[in-house]
Amino acid sequence: MKIIEKINYLQFIVKKFKKKNKIISFIPTMGSLHEGHLSLIKEAKKGKNTIIIVSIFVNPTQFNNLKDLEKYPRNLKKDIFLLKNILCENDIIFTPSEEEMYPTIDNRNFYFGDLENVMEGKHRKGHFNGVAKIVSKLFDFVKPDKAFFGKKDFQQIAIIENLVKNYNYKVEIIPCETVREKNGLAMSSRNILLSNEERKNANNIYKILKESREKNISISDLKHWVKNKINENSHFILEYFEIRDDIFLKDVNSWKDDCKKIGFIAVKIGNVRLIDNIFY
Ligand code: PAF
Repeated sequence: MKIIEKINYLQFIVKKFKKKNKIISFIPTMGSLHEGHLSLIKEAKKGKNTIIIVSIFVNPTQFNNLKDLEKYPRNLKKDIFLLKNILCENDIIFTPSEEEMYPTIDNRNFYFGDLENVMEGKHRKGHFNGVAKIVSKLFDFVKPDKAFFGKKDFQQIAIIENLVKNYNYKVEIIPCETVREKNGLAMSSRNILLSNEERKNANNIYKILKESREKNISISDLKHWVKNKINENSHFILEYFEIRDDIFLKDVNSWKDDCKKIGFIAVKIGNVRLIDNIFY
C-alpha cells in the first residue's frame, strides 16, 4: 500500500496500472474513517484485477459554514492504520494538501437544475457545487473505472451521477448500502462530535423512519407524523423531512405515483447535523 500526496505521482502510477489493464476502483473520502467507509472498500475489493484508491481530503469548498469546516473530525494516523489492515500491496491512499487540490481559486459553477435546490442543496447553499469541484478534480486525476459512494448521502449520489453524465466521465458509480450502528444510527464521521447522551438519542431518527414505514396513512399525514415524532425529542431540531422519488428526487404527493419513494431527513442535535433516508 502506497501513500501518495502529489497529483503528478498519482497520475504516473495510475497510468502504469492502466497499461496493465487494471480496474481502478475509487473511494473518495474526507477521512475520519468508520465502518461505512470500510464497507465501500470491501465492496470495491469484490472486483477482479482491481487496484483500490482511497482519497482522504477534507474539501473546504463544500462547507457552507466555516465553523463546520474547522470542527470537522480529522485523524489521518488512525485512518492510515485502519486502511493498512484492509488494503493490499498495490493499493493507494491519496492524501493531497489543500494547495495541491486548489493551487488557484476554483471559480467553476456547476449546474444540476432542481437537484441542487432541494434538501441538502437548499439548506447548505453551495455545498453541491463544492462537492462537484472536488469530485471532478479527483475523477480527472484518478481516472477511476468505478467509484463507490454510500447511500446515506443519496442526494450526493444523484448529483455525482449527473456530473458523470454531463461531463462524460467514463466511470461507473456504485451506490452502497448505508452502514448503521447496532442501535440503527447511520454511520457518519460527524457522529463522534455527539456527546454520549446525544449519540444515544440520535438512534431515534432511524427508529422513527422505520416506524414511519409501518403507517398506513397519506403522504401528507405521514410528514406531519414524522415531524411530531421528531419534535417529541427535546434536543432535536428538524430541518426537513421529505418524500421524493429515487431518480430525479422530485416531491411525491401520493403513494399511488409510479416511482420508488424515499423519505429524506435532516436533524440537528446540538451543533451536529445528521442526515438519513429510508425507502418506502
Ligand atoms: O461524501 C464525502 O465524504 C464527500 O462529500 C466526498 C465525496 C469525499 C467529496 O469531498
